[in-house]
Parts: sequence; structure tokens; C-alpha cells
Amino acid sequence: MLTGKKIILGITGSIAAYKTAFLVRSLVKSGAEVRVIATRSALDFVTPLTLSTLSNHPVYSEYLKNEQGEWVNHVEMGVWADLMVIAPATANSLAKMANGMCDNLLMAVYLSARCEVMFAPAMDLDMYQHPTTQQNIKKLMDFGHHLIKPGTGPLASGLNGEGRMAEPEDIQAQIEAFFMSKWPLRGKKVLLTAGPTYEAIDPVRFIGNRSTGKMGYALAAELAQLGASVTLISGPTALACPEGVNRQLVESAEEMYNATMAVFAKAELAIFSAAVADFKPAETVNQKIKKDGQALALALVPTLDILAEAGRRKQPGQFVVGFALETNNEVANAQNKLARKNADLIILNSLQEAGAGFGYDTNSVTIISKNEQIKLPLASKHEIAHQIVQYLINRL
Ligand SMILES: Cc1cc2nc3c(=O)[nH]c(=O)nc-3n(C[C@H](O)[C@H](O)[C@H](O)COP(=O)(O)O)c2cc1C
Repeated sequence: MLTGKKIILGITGSIAAYKTAFLVRSLVKSGAEVRVIATRSALDFVTPLTLSTLSNHPVYSEYLKNEQGEWVNHVEMGVWADLMVIAPATANSLAKMANGMCDNLLMAVYLSARCEVMFAPAMDLDMYQHPTTQQNIKKLMDFGHHLIKPGTGPLASGLNGEGRMAEPEDIQAQIEAFFMSKWPLRGKKVLLTAGPTYEAIDPVRFIGNRSTGKMGYALAAELAQLGASVTLISGPTALACPEGVNRQLVESAEEMYNATMAVFAKAELAIFSAAVADFKPAETVNQKIKKDGQALALALVPTLDILAEAGRRKQPGQFVVGFALETNNEVANAQNKLARKNADLIILNSLQEAGAGFGYDTNSVTIISKNEQIKLPLASKHEIAHQIVQYLINRL
């Protein structure tokens, strides 16, 4: 569930600190990499030995690691983390966070953290309700931090009311929900084709098209950012492989067909955005064709239809998206393609609109399914990719 997620757990000096041993254990069990930073006062309530044993990493509390002056790089830790969780969060530490105070290692890491922050207050009823605590909590939420609400019940002081730190399993559930909302496609296997194909005429010439791959690459980047495991099968392009994407470079329609079919069966979502050649030379000549003043007639034969084959092989649980580029009767032709190729969705590119299509950084498309048509007006290809992927998330 949390495999590979990097979490900093900040522990402050509340009696609830002992519960964090359970939290560390369950986070690690879920696959997270946990680094614990404890305030001095937290270590009065829970031992570093317990926490380091459960997290498999040293627990840091001070700026210096040893007497030789080796220091804990708080900036590096802040940049490293995917999420910082402060649990329990004392009234004192909440006040420091809300006011930018930096008098211990935990606060230095907090101020350096680029990731999102969750905090689980734990304190006595009256401390929790005090206007200054409430104001600090509000301020932290205004910063965009996530409050893990305390529970109501018997408190260590003997009083009864709101202020008990949320139970470790509730904190864990909120951490998992946080990652799910950030990575709604986590673990989804996606196959994506992009770019043009080149069909060789002779060793130096080919039949190609004007596709740059920008739209497909923007989709690959968006899908990977939302947690999908993306295999991108790309025709020739100058574009760099988006981060976190597994790219296979191919050249011809036949190579793209073979690479695609090798992974299609495992894909839950397959998006065919490549501009695959419909025809290729009937034969490829091994030597460069010399000009001799005569006309040259090239015999062309159809290439294999990748989308149609994917539609034919489609199994329950697989979702197939094709791209179409039409120059006339756009919507009717796209709807026809949807049915003919057994696709679940067609993304219709328009050549009619200025700024949309090959080579541009902007695009305008229409999402066509059996029951609806949604026009996405001209926007950057990244924005269009974002909107297409949001639509897919709702459909999936
Ligand atoms: C037994 C005991 C229990 C405490 N429990 C809490 C608590 O639940 N919440 C809180 O805000 N402070 C609590 N405190 C007070 C904090 O430990 C104190 O404010 C300390 O300075 C917090 O430091 P820190 O925020 O740097 O960890 C407790 C103190 C003691 C002695």
C-alpha cells in the first residue's frame, strides 16, 4: 500500500508518544521508508532504541550525530520525504510550526520540507481548546497542512474530552488515503503508444508523418505522476522520456505492433496515441535508390492495424483508448472508428482549429464514447492530458 513512500515521522513530547511505536511498525509493514525525528522531550516518553529498531534507521534528535561534529543534514531530509507526519504534535511544537521557530532539529526539517505535512495534535482538553492552540491549528491548516483530528475520551490528566491523539491505525488510514488521493492510478498498468512511425523506402529514406509525440508524452507524464506504471512505446521523436516512465523506442509500424502486442495482455488501460503509418512500401530496397531522371512508382501495402488488433484481443477489465485524426465528418467518422475497432473511447484530434494538432504545444480534442462527446477547448497539451486523464480516472 505504501511501498517506497518516504515518510518523516516527527515525534514531540506528549504522553501519546509511546503510541508512535505502533505507527512506525505498521507504516514499515505497509512498505514505507520511515525516518524518525524526535524532540528531546519526546525521548522522555519513548526510547530511540525502540524507534530505531522498528524503523531500521537511526532516530535523530540533535543537529550533531556524534562528537566528531558530523551533522544531520536537515535540508536533505526535508527534500527527501514524500510526506512529513508530526504525531503526536504538542501545543508547544504546533506553536513553533505556526510561527516559524527553529530551535531544534525537528523544526529545521519541518521548515525545510518540500512535501506535504500532516499533524496529529495530542494534549489535554483545555490546552487543545485554548484559543492560542486553536489559532495555531487554523494557521497550519491555512498553510495547507492536514489536521489529523484528535479523538474524544479519557485523557492522561484524568479529564475526559477532546485532545487524545488519533489512534495509530487511524493515522495510518489517513496517510494511506493521502497517498491514494495523490496517486489515484497507483499500480495501474498502462500501455501508451506515441509519436510517428517511419516506414523505410531504402536505407536513407522513409515515409513518415508530422507527429512529434508531444500529446502522447504529455499523457505518459501525467499518468506516471498519478502513480500509474506506464510503458510508453514510442516512434522516433526528439522528446526526452518522462520521469518514471518505461520507454521502448521503435521505428516502424511493424515494430510498434510487435512491442505493443508483447505487453498488451497485461495492460489495464491501453492508449493508442501514436500516428502509425497506414501504408508502408511493399518492399524495402537495401541500396539507396539512385535518381535516373525517370519517375519512380512506389507500391504501398497496408500496415497492421494496432488499435483494431487490441480491440479484438480486449478482455474484460481492459480499457482501450484510440486517437483519431479526421479531416471531414470528424465526429461521425470517430464514432464509426470507436465501434469498428471495439475501443472504449476515441480522442478526436481536430485539424480544423488553429493551434491544435501536430507540432503545436497546444491542442483541442473531443472525447468520444458510446454515450457522450466532450469537447476540450484549446489548451496546452499538458492541460489537455490532465483533463483526459481525469476523465479516465472517473471512467475507470
Ligand atoms: C507527563 C507529561 C505529559 C505531557 N503531555 C503533553 C501532551 O500530551 N501534549 C502537550 O502539548 N504537551 C504535553 N506535555 C508538555 C510538553 O512535554 C512540553 O510542552 C514540552 O516542552 C514539549 O516539547 P516539544 O514540543 O519540543 O516536544 C507533557 C509533559 C509531561 C511532563
